[in-house]
Amino acid sequence: MEANKETYSSKKVIAYYKKYESLQKPEESIFNLLKNKLSSMKMLDIGIGAGRTTIHFAPHVKEYIGVDYVAGMVDACKHKFSNKFPLSMFQIADARKLDQFIEHEFDFVLFSFNGIDYISPDERFLALQQINRVIKPEGYFCFSSHNIQSLENPAKFKLRLNLFALIKQIIVWQKVKKTNRQQFAVIKTSEFISINDGVHDFGLQTYYFRPIVQQKILHKAGFKNVRFFSLETGLEIDNENISISTSTDRWIYYLCQKV
Ligand SMILES: C[S@@+](CC[C@H](N)C(=O)[O-])C[C@H]1O[C@@H](n2cnc3c(N)ncnc32)[C@H](O)[C@@H]1O
Repeated sequence: MEANKETYSSKKVIAYYKKYESLQKPEESIFNLLKNKLSSMKMLDIGIGAGRTTIHFAPHVKEYIGVDYVAGMVDACKHKFSNKFPLSMFQIADARKLDQFIEHEFDFVLFSFNGIDYISPDERFLALQQINRVIKPEGYFCFSSHNIQSLENPAKFKLRLNLFALIKQIIVWQKVKKTNRQQFAVIKTSEFISINDGVHDFGLQTYYFRPIVQQKILHKAGFKNVRFFSLETGLEIDNENISISTSTDRWIYYLCQKV
């Protein structure tokens, strides 16, 4: 997956993430759930990009460390926040190898905006084990990941766009289907697939997981109390109103705790 790192390292992509500032709806829900605890938490924000989540979390937590495996992203954060949040730290780190952090160092780890989907499944498990290692028992881990079920019903996410954007997205979608024909042929029986979904000028290979499979992997990596949040509504998917196994949200936010 070194090609993904190359794409994230490009100036154009770094500039793209500099524009993002607001929290996504499920992140707002999770922020509100943890709000009362944040002031006593040491937080590790993995895959910070240009610091979209830093703006929201750094002022509220006891200690904040943001990391990314792309040096240009880390530099962008240092440049943007060294005066604003002088106590926050920004470092280069790869989620698969969090050696610079000790066991049980953090109360809360965040890996937002699907950063985990750019790692192969074996290495994803390694990253989850690394994250588990640095979290305190009962501490929280939150991340988002692409939902394979959204690809089984892709028309849904096209309807909200203006006409020009809609036409562009239909063209891109046709190319996505053509490029990933083999993966789409087995989608209904797959636990996860890796596709090039057109993002950043077809510069990324992205993993889409079945949420119940992701839940099992989290349990295996040492997490419990897995909760799911909808990208579209921001609300928790509680298995009573909408089942997680039929959700077609393009991506799902997961909140869980270390055993
Ligand atoms: C989709 S961007 C999101 C950036 C930022 N979190 C945001 O929400 O705007 C994903 C980020 O994850 C980083 N990333 C991907 N794989 C990583 C890994 N193995 N270790 C650390 N960072 C990683 C990328 O460099 C990129 O900055």
